[in-house]
Amino acid sequence: MATLKEKRTCGQRCEDFGRFVWNPDHGTFMGRTPVKWVCISLYYVAFYVVMTALFALALWTLMYTLDPYAPDYQDRLLSPGVMVWPDVYNEENLELFYNMSEKSSLDRMAQCLRDFLIPYNDTLQESCHRMHQCKPGHYNLQTSFDAPGHTKWSCPFNQSVLEQCSGLEDPTFGYNGTKPCVIIKMNRIISFLPNNGTGMAPYVNCTALEGHENVDWIEYFPSNGTFDLSYFPYYGKQAQPSYVNPLVAVKIHLIGQRSAKIQCRVVAHNIGYENFYEPYEGKVIFQIKATS
Ligand SMILES: *[C@@H]1O[C@H](CO)[C@@H](O)[C@H](O)[C@H]1NC(C)=O
Ligand SMILES: *[C@@H]1O[C@H](CO)[C@@H](O)[C@H](O)[C@H]1NC(C)=O
Ligand SMILES: *[C@@H]1O[C@H](CO)[C@@H](O)[C@H](O)[C@H]1NC(C)=O
Ligand SMILES: *[C@@H]1O[C@H](CO)[C@@H](O)[C@H](O)[C@H]1NC(C)=O
Ligand SMILES: *[C@@H]1O[C@H](CO)[C@@H](O)[C@H](O)[C@H]1NC(C)=O
Ligand SMILES: *[C@@H]1O[C@H](CO)[C@@H](O)[C@H](O)[C@H]1NC(C)=O
Ligand SMILES: *[C@@H]1O[C@H](CO)[C@@H](O)[C@H](O)[C@H]1NC(C)=O
Repeated sequence: MATLKEKRTCGQRCEDFGRFVWNPDHGTFMGRTPVKWVCISLYYVAFYVVMTALFALALWTLMYTLDPYAPDYQDRLLSPGVMVWPDVYNEENLELFYNMSEKSSLDRMAQCLRDFLIPYNDTLQESCHRMHQCKPGHYNLQTSFDAPGHTKWSCPFNQSVLEQCSGLEDPTFGYNGTKPCVIIKMNRIISFLPNNGTGMAPYVNCTALEGHENVDWIEYFPSNGTFDLSYFPYYGKQAQPSYVNPLVAVKIHLIGQRSAKIQCRVVAHNIGYENFYEPYEGKVIFQIKATS
């Protein structure tokens, strides 16, 4: 039986290697003919060109789709939070307690609202939003950046719209008596359309959770307590530098014990308000009490 492996001398191996480098019989160099070498080189050149091009394309697409006007990361909370002014907290709770016969006490409340309304000054709002015609009752949808400085238009919100709660007619905002005003603001969420773009405006609905008998009635400014559609959607700080949140003022007519626990909810199909982990989502609860 012949052995499968022949024992070969070193000389034979060297000769084999020489034959591998250059094989005159087949005209191959390192196992391939020069034509094949050219082909394989061209193949690799083409391969790397394509790989580089794909990588560049991917990088370019990424850079292109990163919109400098939108945040790269958006908060998970897609239902807006609601806030109330005067924002007087006692521990964790909002407690709007005041003594209507004590000037320092009612001044504290009124001053808080006056400060909050500074950006809503009618003349200031007019100068910030002079050139744009807003259509109340319509979404302020904009696909291009037509406002100065490559931005989008925002709609003005005038302090005077809050009428009796604007501080213009009554500088005490009702805190000199039993008809105090509070101001409700809904937080901004980029691209959020209340009621899913069905054209229904969200509105504020306040109800007494406790001390029902002490609340005669509740008045809203603007009437019906609506946030007009022209303030939606919000495109972000960079796209809408002069955007102001719309507001709804609520005048609470207190009677009897003049003390109540009020919940103000912003009502819209797509605004949740029963999230245990987000107590300010879609609503705000506060205690209000007038003493004398
Ligand atoms: C409210 O202020 C008046 C006048 O300063 C004072 O007499 C009264 O005791 C105060 N009421 C309360 C409940 O602090
Ligand atoms: C609004 O601003 C104008 C001009 O700065 C000022 O005269 C006016 O008193 C302000 N109004 C209120 C209510 O603060
Ligand atoms: C806001 O106030 C300004 C100045 O009084 C007025 O010209 C403008 O029409 C008002 N805008 C709205 C939306 O009420
Ligand atoms: C509170 O002040 C306003 C404006 O100064 C006034 O019209 C109103 O009568 C006052 N209310 C009370 C209860 O004093
Ligand atoms: C609103 O739109 C969201 C997402 O498109 C959807 O999940 C939700 O069911 C819609 N709600 C209503 C009331 O149409
Ligand atoms: C406001 O809320 C109360 C209590 O949930 C409800 O009875 C009432 O119908 C609501 N009003 C509006 C206009 O949604
Ligand atoms: C308030 O609501 C009533 C009834 O839904 C409607 O007739 C009225 O036009 C609304 N007012 C405003 C200012 O939107």
